[in-house]
Amino acid sequence: MTARTYVGAIDQGTTGTRFIVFDHEGQVVANAYETHEQIYPEPGWVEHDPVEIWENTKTVVTEALGQAGISPDQLAAIGVTNQRETTVLWDADSGKPVYNAIVWQDRRTTDRIEELEDEGKADWIREKTGLEPDAYFSATKAEWLLEEGDPIKMERARPADVRDRAESGDVLFGTIDSWLIYNLTGNHVTEVTNASRTMLYDIHDCEWDDELLEEFSIPREMLPEVRPSSDDATYGSTDPDGFLEAEVPVAGALGDQQAALFGQTCFDAGDAKNTYGTGSFVLMNTGEEAVESDHGLLTTIGFQRSGEPVQYALEGSIFVTGAAIEWLEDVDLIADPAETAELARSVDSTDGVYVVPAFTGLGAPHWDQRARGTIVGMTRGTRKEHIVRATLESIAYQTRDVTEAMEADSGIEMTSLKVDGGAVKNNYLCQLQSDIIGSEIVRPIVDETTALGSAYAAGLAVGYWDDVDSLRNNWQVDREFEPDQDDDVDAKYGRWQDAVERSRDWAND
Ligand code: G3P
Repeated sequence: MTARTYVGAIDQGTTGTRFIVFDHEGQVVANAYETHEQIYPEPGWVEHDPVEIWENTKTVVTEALGQAGISPDQLAAIGVTNQRETTVLWDADSGKPVYNAIVWQDRRTTDRIEELEDEGKADWIREKTGLEPDAYFSATKAEWLLEEGDPIKMERARPADVRDRAESGDVLFGTIDSWLIYNLTGNHVTEVTNASRTMLYDIHDCEWDDELLEEFSIPREMLPEVRPSSDDATYGSTDPDGFLEAEVPVAGALGDQQAALFGQTCFDAGDAKNTYGTGSFVLMNTGEEAVESDHGLLTTIGFQRSGEPVQYALEGSIFVTGAAIEWLEDVDLIADPAETAELARSVDSTDGVYVVPAFTGLGAPHWDQRARGTIVGMTRGTRKEHIVRATLESIAYQTRDVTEAMEADSGIEMTSLKVDGGAVKNNYLCQLQSDIIGSEIVRPIVDETTALGSAYAAGLAVGYWDDVDSLRNNWQVDREFEPDQDDDVDAKYGRWQDAVERSRDWAND
């Protein structure tokens, strides 16, 4: 029998899909990545093709295994981590989606959220779900797909019977974890951190909530079974006659931000991390206590291991950080993200320019669905270097917005913050982040912590790793950045807050 030497992790993010093979020390053995199309059918709408995502998943798995010369039966388990909230409805008979996935950034249900607020339902939703009612979450996306999906855009199925088929359990709902696990194993399940982002799940009782299902007219029959993030019973196994040609247990899953929390070994209350991807998401483990936020943060589920109580987290969700750098590239201000540090360093300051990249509204702590991207303070002397620098600073300022809220909610002073994600390779950004929040920034050697977290969850479930202490031992510092603050850092932060005010409540469509 082949030794089960490795654990694989599928990391399905907003811009692409990655498969990483890890060894027992948590080191990367193979890594393959594929981007997918971003579909913008109307202003404020963002869609992905779930079939493309599944095809890419198969491609990167095959590619990574090929790179390292690993056969699938050397995998002890597979973990899944994913862009959260993004909503897929698919036909149980054909396995095909009935529509594109509606992405977490999509704003088409803004009016519906405002209606809920006008009806005085915001507190009720917050109490049950820990979430700030927003088009960000899955509930109104699923409701839109069942109620309003435009027949012309519904290319994949006859729309008229979608609701009927959902009521009979023939059309299924899932977030991306659920969609991938269904394709990998044939089982319709999700896990608890992803469920906690749907706005349909009671995070205290840990079950789909009948009243919320009624509010959004979501038939229970279409919902997946909710399982622990690290599941000793496993979600199922890959089909030996399927694309992997091996039976590998799929035993762990976490929304990508919770996976990064797990991969950064933030297992104890008070441990916190920030992941820099399309957006940035600061999460602090609050243990078995679901801490309510008075400062615009979300209360969410951090992770759950089989047979153990769920662990909660406070979350500051920043919608646009890495995507702001992509925007600089889109408008030809830079040719490559790697240029940003040099351009920013080439000027002493932003010269009073502030960029607020509220392209898809503002998340925590402002929660303004109608905010839009804004540049203020430009003069005739403003050069692209100032705008590039102000864009990098916006990433750090937005993080300060949420870390201050987190300190106020938790009463814990954040002296150190673990970071990960693509942008932390940029030393300039890490130092800037440390200066602006006045805390130490700690970057681990393995910065693919999202994938690592789901590999850990899967590996723990099948006994590949014995316990969380062995995972803690794997975690190693690459570099620490100590704050070196100018005297005017707080004054500049004050101006940033003014700039944020200018971006608010802009979109009126
Ligand atoms: O909540 C959205 C988040 O999960 C997206 O993460 O890394 O794909 O930008 P990312």
